[in-house]
Amino acid sequence: MMDTLQKNRLQELADNPIQWQCPLREYTSFGVGGPAEALVTVESSKELQQLIHFFAEENIAWRVIGRGTNILVKDSGFEGAALVLSGDFKKINVEEREHAVVIQAGAGHSLSKLSSMCLESGYTGLEFAIGIPGSVGGAVSMNAGAWGGSIADILLELELVTATTIENYQHEQLQFDYRTLIIPNREVYAITSATVVLQRKDPEEIRATCHDYLEKRRQTQPSGFGNAGSFFKNPQGDSAGRLIDLSGLKGVKVGDAEVSTKHANFIINRGRASAEDILQLMDLVIGKVYRQTGIRLEPEVKIW
Ligand code: EPU
Repeated sequence: MMDTLQKNRLQELADNPIQWQCPLREYTSFGVGGPAEALVTVESSKELQQLIHFFAEENIAWRVIGRGTNILVKDSGFEGAALVLSGDFKKINVEEREHAVVIQAGAGHSLSKLSSMCLESGYTGLEFAIGIPGSVGGAVSMNAGAWGGSIADILLELELVTATTIENYQHEQLQFDYRTLIIPNREVYAITSATVVLQRKDPEEIRATCHDYLEKRRQTQPSGFGNAGSFFKNPQGDSAGRLIDLSGLKGVKVGDAEVSTKHANFIINRGRASAEDILQLMDLVIGKVYRQTGIRLEPEVKIW
């Protein structure tokens, strides 16, 4: 827990009023979870660096919350500071080059909105991201993907902030894997922007592809209930949804948390689920799938 001195110092460093004991359920797509000790809206890399420096010095836990679409916050909440990236982190800069279009997007921008903007402007490469509800920063940090595409395919460069530096990394300095980004020699950082390289294409062709992806998503994935997308990572060469389905778990519930009957790799909040309901259902799924198939599923959702 932060003491009064730390709280006062944190408020001095932050440009915006801090929300103390802020319920995170309002900031996550699952709609569950207890409060963050502090919710800090950060607007620039400089401010972010000062905050990370302070957190390191004072040994205070912190995380960037992004759009909260891939996290499960425990009912006890998060002891530390949850950072919301706004201001500069929502900006976009488009540079038209002769054979390509280079877009720098702030980490706090919506990935799906960026994809829609590219559609309207006739830039191809981000179609896979249509309908992915997260932020640019969140998507980059986990190499988000769909329909065979992923962030790694288009990322040219990223900017990150540490306690003492603001750094840029080129694609070739980064290691990407399935739903994973590794930045060599860096563990504590916040991604602040991503630069992607796209090509020009007839907007109607892009629109048709995006329409197709959204339609497939509508047909195969649940909507209308709180969820965090695919709950588990796909094991190599297989599909978590297929394995959970095969294990007879569709529709299984703990409290108001349910394995979706539409897509078995989605856990949905039917209304009043607690984080504990979801965690218990997660354990139940892992256990049953392991007994049935010998494969141990790993959550894709980050547990706070
Ligand atoms: N399947 C079942 N039962 C189910 C669900 C799926 O048998 O209840 C089978 C399907 O028939 C299919 C296979 O499992 O043969 C794979 O399912 P699907 O095509 O729906 O794709 P997925 O592997 O479950 C991945 C991503 C999604 C992304 C889709 C489309 C992961 C963990 N998930 O899903 O990403 O939208 O492909 O590209 O990689 C996310 O990461 O949050 C997410 C939604």
